Amino acid sequence: MTSLDTRPALVHAPSATDGEWWRHAVIYQVYPRSFADGSGDGIGDLPGITSRLPHLAELGVDAVWLSPFYRSPQADAGYDVADYRAVDPLFGTLDDFDALLLRAHDLGLRVIVDLVPNHTSDEHVWFEAAMAAGPGSAERERYLFREGRGPAGELPPNNWQSIFGGPAWTRVADGQWYLHLFDSRQPDLNWEHPEVRSEFEDVLRFWLDRGVDGFRIDVAHGMVKEPGLPDWDGHVSMIEGSDDAASPEDAVSGAGNQGPMFDQDGVHEIYRAWNRVLAQYAGDRALVAEAWVEPLSRLARYVRPDEMQQAFNFAFLATLWDAPALRSVIEASYVTADSVGAPTTWVLSNHDVVRHASRLGLAEAGSRPNGIGHGDEQPDEELGLRRARAATLLMLGLPGSAYLYQGEELGLPDHTALPDQLRQDPAFFRTGGAERGRDGCRVPLPWAADEAGFGFSPTGVTWLPQPASWAAYALDAQRGVAGSTYETYRGALALRRAEHLGTGGLTWDNAFGDEVIAFENRDVLVVANLGADPVELPVGLTVLASSGDLPDATTLPGDTTIWARRA
Ligand code: GLC
Repeated sequence: MTSLDTRPALVHAPSATDGEWWRHAVIYQVYPRSFADGSGDGIGDLPGITSRLPHLAELGVDAVWLSPFYRSPQADAGYDVADYRAVDPLFGTLDDFDALLLRAHDLGLRVIVDLVPNHTSDEHVWFEAAMAAGPGSAERERYLFREGRGPAGELPPNNWQSIFGGPAWTRVADGQWYLHLFDSRQPDLNWEHPEVRSEFEDVLRFWLDRGVDGFRIDVAHGMVKEPGLPDWDGHVSMIEGSDDAASPEDAVSGAGNQGPMFDQDGVHEIYRAWNRVLAQYAGDRALVAEAWVEPLSRLARYVRPDEMQQAFNFAFLATLWDAPALRSVIEASYVTADSVGAPTTWVLSNHDVVRHASRLGLAEAGSRPNGIGHGDEQPDEELGLRRARAATLLMLGLPGSAYLYQGEELGLPDHTALPDQLRQDPAFFRTGGAERGRDGCRVPLPWAADEAGFGFSPTGVTWLPQPASWAAYALDAQRGVAGSTYETYRGALALRRAEHLGTGGLTWDNAFGDEVIAFENRDVLVVANLGADPVELPVGLTVLASSGDLPDATTLPGDTTIWARRA
């Protein structure tokens, strides 16, 4: 880890202009089934989202990313797509999508949609054709069907495990096996097949023609597999640390081998082709990589000038609540992104991880259990929220593009006591309950404290129950209330825009000691005290924003962040 004293002060230089929107945008993730329900069936939908878009405009974000709403049997909450060009009736119609896009653009919000190219649903016509056509057929070539090992082919073709637990292979009635890195209902596509490549370019065009501003690419590091699909004894997972790093930047983000199923060099050819597709469209369209790749220097390869525009910075999300560790990751993020001329991104929560308000309330603050349930360590809700607000104000003070996950502007914690019988995440079932899974961060949003289902749907029905404590988090309980989490987010987003912090620079200020992350971005000083003890502030600061109450003008309490202007 780099020491505080030897660090060069200027880490990232500010830009003269605002340039492309995705270099500095704050992008809000909408998880359609849990945002707002227009129909009353208890599951959020596109008309529900459209009706609530003014909330996002008022909040002050620049863009919206919609998780999948395509036709799907919902075996993995829509990340199992049966038809890439159709809206699932659960969420509405294509007309509803067009209306949503129109309204968003009217409100000045860009819209990014999710593309899931690593696998389809088992109900996709291609997979149904592959099952019907049998071994050796052209139809099977679009997926990864193989003969099994063992005398009667009774063993899987290799030893790969599914990310959701259990083997990554399922055997079909005629004896062949097919690969699925995720659920058995999510067969992996064969990206060596030219038809697969041309089909997805066509899907991109379908949504670009409708006017979307970009795509979030699901499992962007997974599509190409090492030839021969060799056995691999490593653990199949997301980010894991390693001591064997090639550079100081890589030392903080791990040097892990992701195995023969991830981050293969061949995947970049796909993104170069997609970059060319987007370039044929007017406007400023963007591709965003969901690539759980380490170290950061490998991630930077996805955002080279002729590939994608952004990649999620999961190294930041995965770092514990520890000032030296976070400083190192922040610095490494700029060094590696700057090396390819790409913007850095920041993210603390999404639909796959325990919300940061809950993670930061755990004994090991910031650790990442895969879900929290009955009998598990319960987070300290108050401490978690205090730190979450401090973490967000730190994040929004950083130049680059930032992602918010729906509900974090309300300070929502996970539902950490969901009854197991209500769980729906395949990860819960495939691990026999050893992992609680991701349902706790996917609970329908509370809009109105006094309404049934907290105003999520007109009938009060919600597909997962909301904790009773969420009344205090409802939007209408916070709107207009000074110091509420919602007003803190709103104020920070307005200031970030007015001060051009997204295109600003980062210069460390190391005067506050080891427990503090402090830097200047343009002429705003950001000071985050991650320690438990108060820290003394210089005299004469004008505080512009604060994540919590300040006792006086020169004391910054623990777990609190401020933005300030020097005298
Ligand atoms: C991504 C999605 C996650 C999904 C998985 C398989 O990681 O974010 O929700 O389960 O891909 O598509």
